[in-house]
Amino acid sequence: MVDVELNKARFLKIYQDNIKREGADKLLEWLCSDRSDFFVAPASSKFHSAVLGGLCDHSLNVYDRAVELIENENKKDDSLFKNISAESIAISTLLHDLCKVNFYKVAQRNVKNEFGMWEKVDYYTVDEDLPYGHGEKSVYMISGFMRLTREEALAINWHMGGFDKRVIGGDYSISKAFSQFPFATLVHIADIMATYFDEDRE
Ligand SMILES: [Fe+2]
Ligand SMILES: [Fe+2]
Repeated sequence: MVDVELNKARFLKIYQDNIKREGADKLLEWLCSDRSDFFVAPASSKFHSAVLGGLCDHSLNVYDRAVELIENENKKDDSLFKNISAESIAISTLLHDLCKVNFYKVAQRNVKNEFGMWEKVDYYTVDEDLPYGHGEKSVYMISGFMRLTREEALAINWHMGGFDKRVIGGDYSISKAFSQFPFATLVHIADIMATYFDEDRE
C-alpha cells in the first residue's frame, strides 16, 4: 500500500537535503504544482506500482536501493563509487522517471464482476503529449530546469538498460555508457531491484 502523503514528505526531505543545484528549487516547485501529477501518478499502467502515488514510491525505492548498493560497494578500497556525491545519487534516482509525469490517464472499461454483471472499472492508460522517448525524455525535462553532470545524464538516459527501446532496436552505445560510467550501471540495477523486489506487480 502506497502512503502518498508520507512518500511526498520523504521525497521533499531527501530532495531538499541533497539537491542544492541552481534551478533545483524551480524543478521542485513545478513537481509540487498542479501542472505536474508526480506525487499521485502511477509508476506504470499495469506492470509495477500501477497505483495512485506509485511513481513517487518507485522513485524512492530506486533511491534506497542505490544508496544501499553504493554503501556496500564503498566498503571496498577499490570501489568505483567513492566520488559519487549524495546530490548525484538523489538527482539520478528521484528524477530518473520524470518522463512519466502527466503521462498516465485514468480511463474506464467494462468488466464482468463476480455475479456475472458488467461494471465500469478504472484503469490507467497512456496519454503521451511529449513523445521524446523514456530516459532521454527525463534528461530533457530535468535539463529545462537545471544542468546535469555527464554521469547523471548518462545514468538517467540509460536507466532502463536492456529494456530500452533503442537497445532493443540494436543501439550498442549503452554498453559503452555502462563501461565508462559505472554509476549508470548501478542506477539501472537499482531500478530493476526496486521494480522486481520492492513493488507490487500484476
Ligand atoms: Fe524508467
Ligand atoms: Fe524506474
